[in-house]
Amino acid sequence: MLKENLTNALSKQFNFELYSAYIYLEMSAYCDRNGLKGFANWLNVQAQEELAHAMHMYEYILERGAYPVFEDVKKSPYDFENITEVFEKTLAHEQIVTGRINDIASLALKENDHAAYIFIQWYVNEQVEEEANAEQILQQVKQIGTNTALLYALDKELAARVFVNPFPAKTAAN
Ligand SMILES: [Fe+2]
Ligand SMILES: [Fe+2]
Repeated sequence: MLKENLTNALSKQFNFELYSAYIYLEMSAYCDRNGLKGFANWLNVQAQEELAHAMHMYEYILERGAYPVFEDVKKSPYDFENITEVFEKTLAHEQIVTGRINDIASLALKENDHAAYIFIQWYVNEQVEEEANAEQILQQVKQIGTNTALLYALDKELAARVFVNPFPAKTAAN
């Protein structure tokens, strides 16, 4: 069974993933209302991924015989007035997530819970990709600046992102 401190840490992260989804949905709505449907799509898919992470953690807590701790989901603390700021905040947010995931990995090792350590490793790898994606789009929007034609070209590219459940077998089994 999952120890209480690890249950609490994973429950807090379950909540934080829901909070992340909420943040990305707000960003997605901002892009949608500003004529950037492709950016809105990319952020909507990002929100769906965060929801999948939340469910994956929730199910893992139950699978380990523990009870998830439920808390309020906070609203986004981020303000943004243009697309560059949206991705500055996205990158900053993912860096916070990486720190939290690393702390959970350290706690799992400290508790000698290798199963939980292996579980959280998936997120350690995921965060490398999350930061790289946010950083790449941030660089692009910075370079594009006020060039509307280039911004719309990138918007079209981001419209192609589709949500792929990273845990399909898990979902089917439950
Ligand atoms: Fe996540
Ligand atoms: Fe994320």
